[in-house]
Order: sequence, then structure tokens, then C-alpha cells
Amino acid sequence: MSRQLLVTSALPYASGPIHLGHLVEYLQTDIWVRFQKLRGNRCIYICADDTHGTAITIRAQQEGKTEVDLIAEMNEAHQRDFAGFGIQFDNYGSTNSPANLKFCEEIWAALRQADTVVERDVEQLFDLEKGIFLADRFVRGTCPFCQAKNQPGDNCSNCGETYSPADLIDPVSTLSGTRPEIRSAPHLFVQIEKLHDFLDKWTQSGTLPEESANYIKNYFLAEPLKDWDISRPAPYFGFEIPDSPGNYWYVWFDAPIGYMASTLEWCQKNGENFDDWWRNSKTEIHHFIGKDIQYFHTLFWPAMLKTAGFSLPEKVHIHGFLTVEGAKMSKSTGTFVRAGKYLEHLDPSYLRYYYATKLSARVEDLDLNLEEFVNRVNGDLVGKVVNLASRTAKFVAETGLSETYPEDGGLFEAGIAQQAAITEAYEAGNFSRAMRLIMELADKANPFIEQNAPWELRKDASKAKDLQDVCSVGLNLFRQLAVFLAPVLPDLAEKAGKLLNAPITSWEDARKPLVGTPVAKFEHMMKRVDMKSVEKMIEEGRESAPPSAAEAASREEAAAEAGAPASEVEAAGSWDDSDQPLKDEPLAEEISFDDFMKLDLRVARIVAANEVPDARKLLQLTLSLGGEERRNVFAGIKAAYKPAELVGRLVVMVANLAPRKMKFGLSEGMVIASGPGGEDVYLLTPDSGAKPGQRVH
Ligand code: 2FM
Ligand code: ZN
Repeated sequence: MSRQLLVTSALPYASGPIHLGHLVEYLQTDIWVRFQKLRGNRCIYICADDTHGTAITIRAQQEGKTEVDLIAEMNEAHQRDFAGFGIQFDNYGSTNSPANLKFCEEIWAALRQADTVVERDVEQLFDLEKGIFLADRFVRGTCPFCQAKNQPGDNCSNCGETYSPADLIDPVSTLSGTRPEIRSAPHLFVQIEKLHDFLDKWTQSGTLPEESANYIKNYFLAEPLKDWDISRPAPYFGFEIPDSPGNYWYVWFDAPIGYMASTLEWCQKNGENFDDWWRNSKTEIHHFIGKDIQYFHTLFWPAMLKTAGFSLPEKVHIHGFLTVEGAKMSKSTGTFVRAGKYLEHLDPSYLRYYYATKLSARVEDLDLNLEEFVNRVNGDLVGKVVNLASRTAKFVAETGLSETYPEDGGLFEAGIAQQAAITEAYEAGNFSRAMRLIMELADKANPFIEQNAPWELRKDASKAKDLQDVCSVGLNLFRQLAVFLAPVLPDLAEKAGKLLNAPITSWEDARKPLVGTPVAKFEHMMKRVDMKSVEKMIEEGRESAPPSAAEAASREEAAAEAGAPASEVEAAGSWDDSDQPLKDEPLAEEISFDDFMKLDLRVARIVAANEVPDARKLLQLTLSLGGEERRNVFAGIKAAYKPAELVGRLVVMVANLAPRKMKFGLSEGMVIASGPGGEDVYLLTPDSGAKPGQRVH
């Protein structure tokens, strides 16, 4: 009997683009969904953009647009990227939709009704310049425990203590560079401890991978569950809470409810009944998420569903993070590859297959090793699978396949026998095993072609029947593999269908060989990956951003592990300092000390950075010289920096340069940078400890 499945991937934030890290999950889910559909199960794949919260407001401000315009643009961009990778949603919605508001209200009413909502005052830092409450990651200051400077708003990287951002000494908003104010406001909390027993049972009943179930039990369920702060005071981009005017649901309240809202949209478009999907024990709900958000999906979300009487997820599939070449993705090394950038250079099938070969049912990180990526695709797909067709199809283009399936030494039967294990591996999310089993079959099929050498048989007219038989076997084995690979490589399956005039529409297609059917002209199926294209993609994705604090910290960690202080490791590296820059621009004429002293160089903080409409090279910067002193500067750094990366950072400026009237406004100084221009521009940054307004001598 066919199953009814509702499958989701986590809703991506509308505040950023889709990158290769995201794609681990969307490809994993898409493969699983395609597998279920091919098997004849009723299955819908539901997703949406996660549109609310502070990050959206900040980005909208930076880009000078409204939040609503920004999320509309991002929704389109996300859907384009997903489609480019062959990810097929049945519905892709938005959490900023009337349907989502309706379900938020319904679930909220149920939480109130169950007497799980309480109100308490919370102290938060408020950025007066930006007019927003600051999430922990947007505040830095001195640790109240060990006095370490420049620490984030939640815990100290020096002594490890946790605290509230309001406890930081000399806090600074990283958004505006100003000192935020402590404001107390009432927040609403959900007392999920009231569902402790239920959550204990539910999380330990096979719904999660074992390691996640243990983690949840040991870290969260071992103690009373903390009340969950689900409201934020205005201003906040989200839904206002109907019975608490001036307060908004926290983005993580309405985000998972977006799964339902997007389902409802699908139901309305397809004449379906919503309750068949979310209030029906016959529907299996499967969430695919990353390990960083299991807390929300395995505690809060089931608590909300249970309280409001909706179905609970059958399974939460949890994956690890993507690393590239063994390290965290990084903009400065070019390994932070956006989906769009990948598609400019490489075929999406390559990544679909490569990820499939790496994904298991365990909560493990997955490494994208570029050399292995090239070798796997070329070796397996081009060398073992497509090869079966490219070496045989042309010899039967005129005759078609043999009228009866020829003797093949049991190869096709071996494929049928392997199908149950392949099915089991796909079902369990153990795609790496499924790919191994499929490649084992390919490894057996190829020697058959080698040994029977159709390219030799065609030279002898008396072997025409043998030639047709050998090619019929080769093409049927190719087709069987194409069926098994269809969830991962839908494009290849489609091309195989066209070649053999028999579209692949069912998992059962792998069980019956084709006989007596025509064979179309062989069209190119998959190109070999060229390492040069991979390198070009990485090169073009490289941004001249300084390494993030996290990257710097992980480098220090790696150095410490290797037994050397980070500075030594740096020093031991070989510098590649050519004399070319000096040749390109020889030293200027000598000046007197007095001439130099005329130049008033100051440390400044970038408190705002914006694109300038119609300007190709310029960004508009607001520089703070400390206190209320601000300067407006247009800098030709657009190709090298994104506005969001600049805000909060210290630079050096020429502070006494006569103001210059430009087409876009008055420029009141200059920021100091090196490099020839374009993408090669490097802002000078004072060491930490320098203060805005200090003179540079
Ligand atoms: O972590 C994230 O990217 C969130 N936007 C995921 C939300 S998933 C669901 F709850 F909506
Ligand atoms: Zn500390």
C-alpha cells in the first residue's frame, strides 16, 4: 500500500543567499522525495522562506529598501537557485503570508488555552541610532568576569563565562558603533517544562537519529526545560501578537509554522484537504534539518504541535555541517560558494551525485574535497555509467534493441537482486551506501562490454546479431543504473528515457529489460568535470574580506594542536612578496616632515555603509571619529567589499582633506587603502585597542 508523506527542509533565512552549505540539506531532501515518488508513494515536498526577525531589518536598511521588497527579491532568488539544482518543491511559500498568520494565531490560542504562557520583564540592549533591539551577536564589549575586551553579547571567548548582553562593560553595537542603552520590556514565555514527559517519550521513540536523541536527553531533558522567550518588543519585523499589542512573535515561533502555511497553500492550489496532511495519523511528516537547529525542532516544535492538536513528525532527519577541503567555508579562501556561482561553472548533477556519495543517516559533517569531487564524478558517472550507453547506443540506432533479452551472464538479474538493499539504503537516508551498491553493479557491467567489444563486432557483418545483443545488454544495464540513480540524477534519467524511447517513471522500471524497442541517436549525456572550472569557481568566489573571528580562532586552534603558537605558524609560512607593486608604482618624491604633519590621519569607525544607486565603484560610508563627530565619505571599494562586512570596523581616514562635491553628495575625507583598485583594494585596519578619533602618526 502506498504511503502518504509530507516532507520539509528547513526554511532558509531570507536575509542571505543560498550556498553550497545549504544545498547539502535541500539536495538530501530532494533525493529522498524523488525516491519516494518514484516508488509510487504520495509525497509532497514543502518549503518556504523564513522572512522575519532583526537580520532582515538590518539588511533592508543597508540596501535602502523595505523589508517586504527585500523578502520578495530573496524569495525569487532562492527559488531560482533551487530550481537550478533540480530541487523540486511542491510548494515554496513565505512565512510572511496570511496563511502563516492564521496558523500562528491558532497555535497561540492553544498555548494560552493550555495555560502555558507567562509574562516577565527582560533587559535588552537597544541601539538608539538604528532604532532596534540588539540580538546578542550584534553587541560587543568587555567581559564582566575577566575584563577581556571585544567580547560578544552572550559568552566570553576568553574565560568562557556566559552572561546577558546587558551585563557587558562598555557595550558597543556592531551595527552603528554607538553605545546601546539598556531597556527593560515585558516578554512572553512558553513554559515547555509542562510538556517534559511527553517530550521525553517522543524524542526517545525512534523519531531522531540515535546520537541526537541522546544529546537531547542528556543536555536538555536531564533538567527542567527553560521557559522559551517567544516575543520581541516593537520595532520588529514579524507578526504582532494579537493579544499583546506592541509585541511580536519571535522569528523562531512563526518559522516552523511556515511548514503548515506552505502546505495550506499547496492544498488550496490542488483541491486538497489540509487536515489530511496535518491532522491525520496516516500522513508521515518528515523534517530534514541541520544539527544546529535540532533544539527547536525536537523540543519547541513538537510541544507546539502537541498543544494545538496537530500531527507530530514521524521522523526528524538531522545532518551535519559542510566543510570544504577540511575547513569551515570561508569567503576569503573562496570556499564559501554561492549556488549561483557554482551554476555558472559546473553541472548541478555533479554536486547532486557527490553529496549523495557522502551522505549517511548519521549526524556527521560532510567534507567537500575538490579533487575527490572531480575524481568521483569523472570516474563513476562518466567512466562507469554514461560509458555503458556511449559505447553501445550508436551501434543499435538502426536496429533497435534485440527482440528477446539476450544472455548476459546474470547481470540484469543481479541488479534486480540488489534493488532491495538499494531501496533500504535510500529509505534510511544512507545514500552513500546506495551509491556504493549501484557502483558495484556498474563495476560488473563494464567488463561485459570490454570483453564483448562491440566496436570490434561491428567490423564483421556476420556478427550483426551478436552486436545487437551485446549492445542491448549494455543499454539495459545502463537503464537499470539510471533508474537506481534517478532520485540523485533526474537529468540523466530523463536522457536515458529519451535514448531508449521509454521514460523512467517508476522504481519498477529497473526490473524488466526493454526488448525490441527503438534506440534514438546518442546525444551527449554528461561532460567530464574539468578541475580548471572548479578552480575558476573558487577563484571568482574569493572575497577580499578579512577572516572572520571564528575562522581566525579555528586557525589558532589548529596551530595549537600542531604544538605551535599561531604567530609562529604564520611566521613559518613562506611569504610571496614580489617587487611588482613597487615596479608598478615607484616611490614618490621625498617630502619634509612638516609636509607629512599637514596630513591629519585619524582612526575612524564605519558606522554605516550603503550602496550608492547608479554608482559603479562607490560605497557611501558614515565614519565616526568618536562622540558625535561623523563624516560622510564616498569610497571606491564597491568591488572589494560588501556594505554589511564593513559596518563596525575600524579604518584610517584622511580627516583634513578639503570636502569634495561629488555627483552623489559631499565627500568629507578619504579612507586609506592599498592596492591597484577594483577587487584588489585592501582597507588599512588599526590593531585592536585603537579608538575612533585617535591620530595616526
Ligand atoms: O536556521 C535557519 O536557517 C532557519 N531559518 C530555519 C528555520 S526552519 C523552520 F523552523 F522554519
Ligand atoms: Zn571573560
